[in-house]
Order: sequence, then C-alpha cells, then structure tokens
Amino acid sequence: MTHSVILGTGSYVPEKVLTNQDLEKIVDTTDEWIFERTGIRERRVAPPKAAASDISIPASKNALEAAGMYPKDIDLIVVTTLTPDSLCPSTACWLQAEIGAERAAAFDLNAACSGFVYGLQMGDAYIRSGLMKNILVVSVDLMTRTVDWSDRGTCVLWGDGAGAVVMGPAENGEKGLIDSYIYSDGHDADKIVIMGGGTKLPPMTPEETESNERTLKMKGQETFKTAVRHFTDVCKEVLEKNDMTVDDIDVFIPHQANIRIIDAVAKRLELDRDKVVITIDKYGNMSSATIPVALDEWVKEGKIRHGDNVLMAAFGGGLTWGAALVEW
Ligand code: UT7
Repeated sequence: MTHSVILGTGSYVPEKVLTNQDLEKIVDTTDEWIFERTGIRERRVAPPKAAASDISIPASKNALEAAGMYPKDIDLIVVTTLTPDSLCPSTACWLQAEIGAERAAAFDLNAACSGFVYGLQMGDAYIRSGLMKNILVVSVDLMTRTVDWSDRGTCVLWGDGAGAVVMGPAENGEKGLIDSYIYSDGHDADKIVIMGGGTKLPPMTPEETESNERTLKMKGQETFKTAVRHFTDVCKEVLEKNDMTVDDIDVFIPHQANIRIIDAVAKRLELDRDKVVITIDKYGNMSSATIPVALDEWVKEGKIRHGDNVLMAAFGGGLTWGAALVEW
C-alpha cells in the first residue's frame, strides 16, 4: 500500500494577544500562578466576527503553497474542530468555498484536542486505500469562544489558532507517516464538556439558557493525571510497534495543554528536552490546532529536516488520545 506523506504545512494565529496581566484584570489570578502551573504567558484571540473557517483560510493557503498545489488539486478537506462555524454546513464546506477547492469532498471531524492526530490517521487511511490522493487536513479551534470568563480554573488556559497540512501519496519509497494510533474512552466524557447547544441540551430551551452550559467545563486534576498516563502509553506503543526507541526520535510535538504534562511525559519517556517542541508559553491551549501550528513553525524555522523522525501525540475531551510517527 502507498504510504502518505505531508507535502506542506501552514498555520495562522490571530494578531490580538491576551497576556496573563490582562487576565489579572478579569479574574482573581496572577501571572506567576498561570506561568508556574501551566507554562502559559499569553494566548491569541480571534476578532469577534471571525469564524473558524476564516482563520483556517490563511493556514490552508499557506499549506497549499508549501506543497506546491492549487486548491483544485485537493480531493478531500477534513477540518478537525470542536468550535465549528455552524452545525450545518460543516466548517470544511465553508472553507472549501472560500479557498475554491471545487473538486474536494469536505467534512468536519470532532475529536477535541486530539483532532489533528485523528485527522492525520484519516488522511493516511484514505491515501493508503487509494480512495483519495491529495488531502487537506485543517485543525482549527476558537477556544476563547467557549470560555467562562468568570472561571479562573479554565479561562486562563485557552487560545485561538489554526494549523493545516496537505497530505499526498509517497513517491520514491519515502516512508512519510510511519504509523499512528488513536483511542477514546467515553466513560470519561464528563471530564471535559461543553454541554449546551447539542441534542442533550438543545439551544433556546430554558434549561440551556439558564444553566450557562455553553461554556467549557473541565475537571482539571483528573484530566491531568489521565493525560500523562495515556500520552506516555500511546507514545511507547507507537515506538515499540515500529521497533524504535526514544533515541530514534528527533522531534516530539506534544499537544500543548500544560507544560507540567509535557515535562512529565518527556521525563517518563526519557526524552531529551531539546527535542520537545513548546509553544504553550505564547499560544496557550488551542485544542486541535496546537500540534499543526507547532509543526509548521518548526518546519518553517528549519528545525525539522528531511529524514527526521517526528513523533506527535495528543490528548483531549472525549476522552480521546493518540500518536502519529512521521519520517520527514
Ligand atoms: O487539552 C485538553 C486536556 N487538558 C488538560 O489536560 C488539562 C489538565 N489539567 C491542568 O492542566 C491543571 O489541572 C489546571 C491548569 C487546569 C489546574 O492546575 P492545578 O495545579 O491542577 O490546580 P487546581 O485545580 O488543583 O487548583 C489549585 C489551587 C486552587 O485553590 P485552593 O483550592 O488550593 O485554594 C484553585 O482555586 O489553585 C487555584 N487556582 C488558581 N489560582 C490562581 C485555579 N486556577 C487558578 C488561577 N489563578 N487561574
């Protein structure tokens, strides 16, 4: 079967910066607490009228340009998001029209913060099966739209951003996406929730309106412990299944939820800190966008070179988690 490769990367973060000092004026918090407990200094906030598809446009165009492709070359657009433009149509369809990817099929995928790893595996499966050739995977989240600005335990964590990759079939024996694993455990669904607006708590009902259930709620400590365990296990799994050790990894891009989670996982894997990509200080947690934004930045800065083994791992609401291993 043909392997899939990442042909180009792109990303976009909104210009507006919200610092920890800005948050000190909104909730009872301090820059020291936020930085020490999470690693975050600042995050980006999209303009009030921008939708997820709007900030996906520059990220997608970037990725297409890097891949040397035109929008009409794309067969499939997968947008991973938990903050879609609308329930119908999908964000992917809005984006398709905006970028003029006329031939593409388009749909959304929601695996919360794990979305990018899920999207990569989906793109890989379509390419390996021969059903699709060129696939645009866009991970976008406007997490500041979901935030309860009176809850200091969650509102300091999140930011907005979009990252994209163009995937295609490998040529000349390249390995590309070596392997990937994705998992879910719906028994832990209540750990991270945005309940309002769906069919469990439909919009415009008195219950939904009064309960402020449109905002994100998270059981932080419980999520933290589970995240460290699953992150570590799935990284070990992908290495073991491919007869590789941590020494074979050149770059590790973890989902950016908390610097202490990243450090704990790196320590358990005995992974050199220099190989770990950190963007949480400047962007916070952009949910599914964190990995592709970090990937694009390292690629554009020349920190990921041809032949490097790049390990990506994510964890989030669902609960969901997964890892993907790519030879660049
Ligand atoms: O991306 C999806 C996956 N997400 C995650 O994996 C997130 C995992 N969880 C976490 O990152 C951490 O649990 C948090 C950053 C959310 C919270 O950090 P924590 O160290 O677990 O803090 P905590 O919730 O145990 O709270 C400790 C104390 C509490 O005060 P008391 O009860 O000890 O007096 C909180 O009220 O810190 C207080 N606190 C704050 N203080 C200042 C909580 N948030 C803040 C804040 N500023 N922003």
